[in-house]
Amino acid sequence: MTARELWEARLAALATRARTALAAAQSVQELEELRVHLLGRKGELTLTLRELGQLAADERPAAGALANRVRAEVEQSLEERGQEIRARDLEQRLEAEAVDVTLPGRRPPRGHPHPLVLVRQEMEAIFASLGFAVAEGPEVESEWYNFEALNIPADHPAREMQDSFYVEGHPGADEPRGQLLLRTHTSPVQIRGMLAQQRALPVRIIAAGRVYRRDDDATHSPMFHQVEGLLVDRGVSFAHLKGILAEFARRLWGPRAAIRLRPSYFPFTEPSAEVDVWCVFCQGKGCRTCKGSGWIEILGAGMVHPSVLLAGGYDPEEVSGLAFGVGVERVAMLRYQIEDIRLLYEGDLRFLEQF
Ligand code: DAH
Repeated sequence: MTARELWEARLAALATRARTALAAAQSVQELEELRVHLLGRKGELTLTLRELGQLAADERPAAGALANRVRAEVEQSLEERGQEIRARDLEQRLEAEAVDVTLPGRRPPRGHPHPLVLVRQEMEAIFASLGFAVAEGPEVESEWYNFEALNIPADHPAREMQDSFYVEGHPGADEPRGQLLLRTHTSPVQIRGMLAQQRALPVRIIAAGRVYRRDDDATHSPMFHQVEGLLVDRGVSFAHLKGILAEFARRLWGPRAAIRLRPSYFPFTEPSAEVDVWCVFCQGKGCRTCKGSGWIEILGAGMVHPSVLLAGGYDPEEVSGLAFGVGVERVAMLRYQIEDIRLLYEGDLRFLEQF
């Protein structure tokens, strides 16, 4: 065999192997590997074609023509097989990812009110049905509204720095003196509500919102919520207070809900009471949540102190008032049987989605 015949035989064998391999290729990646293996800089075909230069000069034209045919054939096969594979891949993808346009659309997840918001709304609705109007006050309050006007004197322990968050800055021109602080209760709205009404009767408002205290442990959060109620009119009595609160409890917890009033003290009411509701966790038998007593405190209440009526512009000889302040977290926990107050603040969706 001459050198040329030998070379042509190798080229033919290579062409056959290439044809078989190309026909068997199943993926674009496999095909690319083959291309590099055959036609790359160190590819089998590239190297073989390079040996063309070693043949005798008169043999080169014919050998060269053959070489070009083989190369063109390999290139064309690569191209054709590539098209086949891509078409097949597309087909498979279309089949796998087929969109059924007749399926109903997916609904994006919707948020919903937080349990604290739900009970606040529920409480507002109950008191609204009893004739109370919703009022509002600022969370950054002056000492006068938060303390003085509510008959809490300057030396009262509640005013100490440990208990309140004081805020730098001065009250606006319309504020009657005192430093600014984050309100420690919603009771200052009583004063604002009375002053806004300029001695008109009756005053019948509730005010819900955030309050702040320097407290932070398992059962106390530095920010929590209260709902404040105030009724001022001629002839308002303690019986009205008890009746309103009993009705409130029945609306929240059902007709058998009982409340209990214990004598207490608040500077802004006289007499004052702390009000418990029958423990829904143990049906009054006594459990961890109610600390064995069968009752859970949910609010403070009382008859508005004469000094407070005066601060609001009303004559205590002429009118009387009842007031109450409800802990919203407590009510939410009892309403939904939540045993740990922290669940209300952690924002864990597994908890929140239940409401
Ligand atoms: N302000 C009281 C507190 O934060 C709660 C309170 C008690 C409000 C008696 C009242 C009331 O309106 O009459 O602890």
